[in-house]
Amino acid sequence: MVVGSVLVTGGTGYIGSFTALALLDADYKVVIVDNLYNSSKEVINRIELLSGKRPSFYELDITDQAALDKVFEEHPDIDNVIHFAALKAVGESAVIPLEYYRVNVYGSISLLTSMKKHNVGNIVFSSSATVYGDATRFPNMIPIPEHCPIGPNNTYGRTKSTVESLITDFISSERGNANKAGKSGEQWNGALLRYFNPAGAHPSGIMGENPLGVPNNLLPLLAQVAIGKREKLLVFGDDYKSKDGTAIRDYIHVLDLARGHLQALNYLREHQPGVKAWNLGSGRGSTVFDMIKAFSHAVGRDLPYQVAERRQGDVLDLTANPTLANKELNWKTELTLEDACTDLWKWTEHNPEGYNQEPPKEFLDA
Ligand code: NAD
Ligand code: WQD
Repeated sequence: MVVGSVLVTGGTGYIGSFTALALLDADYKVVIVDNLYNSSKEVINRIELLSGKRPSFYELDITDQAALDKVFEEHPDIDNVIHFAALKAVGESAVIPLEYYRVNVYGSISLLTSMKKHNVGNIVFSSSATVYGDATRFPNMIPIPEHCPIGPNNTYGRTKSTVESLITDFISSERGNANKAGKSGEQWNGALLRYFNPAGAHPSGIMGENPLGVPNNLLPLLAQVAIGKREKLLVFGDDYKSKDGTAIRDYIHVLDLARGHLQALNYLREHQPGVKAWNLGSGRGSTVFDMIKAFSHAVGRDLPYQVAERRQGDVLDLTANPTLANKELNWKTELTLEDACTDLWKWTEHNPEGYNQEPPKEFLDA
């Protein structure tokens, strides 16, 4: 029995692909749209291998509203959207800000316009912990609760906080318009999910993060060191006020994160709350040195690193207070950092070319 239909933008990307899998496993119908800017179509095969179900796929750009309209017309049963499609590299966003605003903000306007036209009311949005900026500028805001004032300190983060406002204003106006027309407007709802640091891969070893080009994040870079694609990891600063001098982040297994989307969508459908923001994090902070140690343990040998200057824009501590999601979404992380490292290593070791190679046969037979 199909419980609902979900349009997943950016669904061939890292977090989108795991969420598509979680949705299919929960008996949602899934329609993916993605322009494959940072992903591969092969992911559709992997999702099918793991779930036994094949999502529909459309290669399109979310800024192309006519193309989005066509998808809604071909799938009139779509009643929810999970919106991942975006550009996400913090450093690059300072270099090509117009492109970041075009894809992330204008792309979201295009999507919301199409949703309005087709009367689709629930949207779950990929926001980011980066919207908080440096929460240590306030007393008692670490671990970070949702009521911490937002203040992104980079262009990418500002596109995310802008889209949070966009969705909030859009849903509020749709509810208002419905009320004026004597209707409830309860069908219009938004979940702003502020993820902390996603990590890990599928424990089967056939699905994982497959960034095209140079990765930006700590664990994918460490994985490249482990398979010899990179000589060493540069540790960006060891003079932070932490136990070992390196910066603290809240790493969350991508399977837990994907389940968070499912729970958030179910919450919107059951409670019609309007727009709400939730942190998706573990509540546990780990330093860069903790991560090097954990991933080295998974690999079974020490990985080379060198301490370098701080990276511009980095903050000391981004650890979530996930209490709200724990209570309201009935969601909490179940997998550990160690699980994320083990799964990432399995994926990396057996798929050095990511999705540009056949899935390892031993895992298919398992
Ligand atoms: P990803 O790059 O793997 O996935 C994004 C997908 O969007 C890609 O498949 C890409 O091809 C697609 N895309 C980009 N521009 C598009 C366009 N114009 N039209 C259609 N598709 C387009 O990234 P991810 O890590 O899976 O991130 C997913 C979402 O989560 C993004 O919105 C990102 O900003 C957000 N997020 C990511 C992290 C993280 O560390 N990975 C943390 C917080 C928030
Ligand atoms: C983690 C820690 C680095 C690389 C970014 C975005 C955030 C979200 C997740 C999208 C930091 C250190 C890293 C390296 C290092 N993405 N590091 N050497 O910066 O916490 O968050 O990705 O929304 O918005 O800002 O993640 O993985 O880049 O870094 O020492 O080669 O690892 O300084 O302390 P970050 P990250």
